[in-house]
Amino acid sequence: MPRLGRWLIRTAFIYLILGFTFGGLLLTHKGLALHSALWGWLPAHIEFLLMGWIVQLTMGVAFWILPRYWQKPRRPKETYAQVAYLLLNLGIWLVVTGTTFRAGRWV
Ligand code: HEM
Repeated sequence: MPRLGRWLIRTAFIYLILGFTFGGLLLTHKGLALHSALWGWLPAHIEFLLMGWIVQLTMGVAFWILPRYWQKPRRPKETYAQVAYLLLNLGIWLVVTGTTFRAGRWV
């Protein structure tokens, strides 16, 4: 498996753990009223699981497994995928900063 594929899939699993943790906390909070600020983490729960987990896992598996006819005989253009990896994760944290941490409209 290519190195970037490993990074994408590992990062996706981290978001799965984060997303399920906040999902579990939110679910518990519905019954036990843990902390009033917990609902603020709903957008983070959604972003972590939809973008961080599902989209990123798909990207990782696709980068690893799909045929890359354009690679031969040239060197792989991995840079585009690396930039996509960085921008996706930057975007996820911008969403969390803007929604959960209410960083303001500029975010
Ligand atoms: C891939 C898995 C998951 C995805 C994509 C996902 C996505 C979402 C989305 C889009 C919402 C917003 C729904 C709405 O506002 O109508 C939501 C709400 C919620 N999710 Fe998840 N979720 C996932 C897994 C989980 C898990 C495993 C738990 C609990 C252990 C959980 C607990 C919750 C709770 C408590 C809410 C709030 C429901 C409410 O508004 O009353 N989610 N989730």
